[in-house]
This record gives sequence, structure tokens and C-alpha cells, in this order.
Amino acid sequence: MDDPDDAAVWRIDDERSLVVTTDFFTPVVDTPYEYGAIAAANSLSDIYAMGAEPFLALNIAAFPPDLPAEFLSEILRGGAEKAKEAGAVVAGGHTVQDKEPKYGLIALGFVHPDKLMTKSGARPGDVLVLSKPLGFGTISTAIKQSKASLEDMHEVIDWMSRLNKGAAILANEFGVRGATDVTGFSLLGHAWELASASNVGLRLEWEKIPFTNNAKHYAEQYIFPGGASDNRLFYQSHIDFKRSFEEYEEMLLFDPQTSGGLLLSVPPGLVNAMQERAKEIDQPLWVIGEVVEGDHIEVF
Ligand code: CO
Ligand code: CO
Repeated sequence: MDDPDDAAVWRIDDERSLVVTTDFFTPVVDTPYEYGAIAAANSLSDIYAMGAEPFLALNIAAFPPDLPAEFLSEILRGGAEKAKEAGAVVAGGHTVQDKEPKYGLIALGFVHPDKLMTKSGARPGDVLVLSKPLGFGTISTAIKQSKASLEDMHEVIDWMSRLNKGAAILANEFGVRGATDVTGFSLLGHAWELASASNVGLRLEWEKIPFTNNAKHYAEQYIFPGGASDNRLFYQSHIDFKRSFEEYEEMLLFDPQTSGGLLLSVPPGLVNAMQERAKEIDQPLWVIGEVVEGDHIEVF
């Protein structure tokens, strides 16, 4: 519990470790099917962040008694189809009544013990690679405030629904040891967890960090979820901004991500080959910085 990883791990034998996690949250979008798919992709993400492959899941849900039955079945269908895409079966679950809907999965996966990825596996010299762009929090908030364009809404829903499967396959093929997924604590929060667990520093390059198309447009209007300010307060003492950034630029790096990408710490000699392989399997990857000796995150 001192240094929590993305999921719990139970070694079964020399060939297999069981990886177990759960996550659930209130709706991030208005359409029930997409909400279910995003919640499931997010729950499965912690399995992928450990380098494991999911095989079994259970629904965990809270629904208001007056929620139309077709909403409920669409949420569960979105989750089940996403789990199927991941190669996992949803074998039941549990639902309670609550005022606000909540949905997610309890997910189980297997990983070879030698292939396990943790937050403590980053080494100085490694290259930091991210598998989804940022901006999900600012655009999700703009959607809730009816300020987002349809195009921006669809873009962010596509990214949030996307499994981290491809990134986990690449990490596994190239023997990556240090990884986490970027979710509610923002890029900087999760990057700091990786850095502190590995006893290293990180250097991030702003110009290389990917954002969804119009994330900056909403960020400039200071449309952020409350969690962005909380993240900033909580993590800012570990972050050195090495030049002057606009306020909204810094906030984008503290923006909570629902179902964000994997942050991988890749041995430097392997990055080019990994990027080539990523193109073959249609998995976007962005090099955003490097791991160094130290105890801070520097943003250039
Ligand atoms: Co995680
Ligand atoms: Co999680």
C-alpha cells in the first residue's frame, strides 16, 4: 500500500500472475452506450498498465430506480462490447440503487511474472512514450456545459473509448518494465507517481506533448473540471516549469483524464523499432520526454 501500483498482483506460478483491479464513475458523456464503453475501457486500462491481458470482468453499477430500462441496458452493452474487444468476458456483476448512475468493471488479467510492468520500473536514460493525447478533462467539461462542438465531442469520445491494448502489446513485445496509465491525477500526477516509485526525475517537452484537436481552445477559456486545480495543488511542489508557460498550458498538464493513455518508460535503444511496430498495428505513440537522475519533473 505504500507505493500503490495500478492493480493488485497475485503470483500463481512461474508462468502466470493474476492481475486484479476495479474502477467505476459517474457518466462522462450523455449517451449511455458510450458511457459504458468508456467506463469499461478505463477499468481495463489498469490491467494493461501492468502489462497484463484481461480475460474476465464483472459489472459494478449503481442506477437510479427511475432510470429508463433501455439506458441501463445500453450502458451494460457498451461495457460488454468493449470487454469483448479486449478479449474478456463479462460474467455478471452487481447493481445497487443510487441517485446518480455509476458504472465500471472489476477486471482480471494474466501476465507472465517476468513481463510485469510497474511504476518502479523506470530507469535514467529511458524515453517516455505516451499512447493517447491529453485534453479529455477540459473537453468533457465543455460537453457538460454545452460548449463543445459535436466534432470535438466525437473526437474525445473515440479516444476515451479506445483500449490501451495496442500500447500494452507493444510494451510487452519490447520488454518495457516501467509504466502507468494517465487517468484522474493528470499527466503530471501520474508521471510523478512513476518518478517517485522509480526514484528518478523526468524531463518533459511541452512541444512534443500531444493534445486533442481543440483542447487548447477550451483550456484558454479556463474550462476545466475541478480535479485539475486539485491536481495542481497536490503535485505542483514536484514540478519545475523551466520556462514561462501560459496558465492554461500548465493546467492542461494537470487536467484529469478519463481513460487516458499508457505512459511507458522505454529503454532508449528500442524506441525507433517500437515506433515502427506501432505504425504496423495502428497504435499512435508520442515520445514526450526522458527519464533522468533526480527527484523532480522538469517541463521544458
Ligand atoms: Co491506473
Ligand atoms: Co484506476
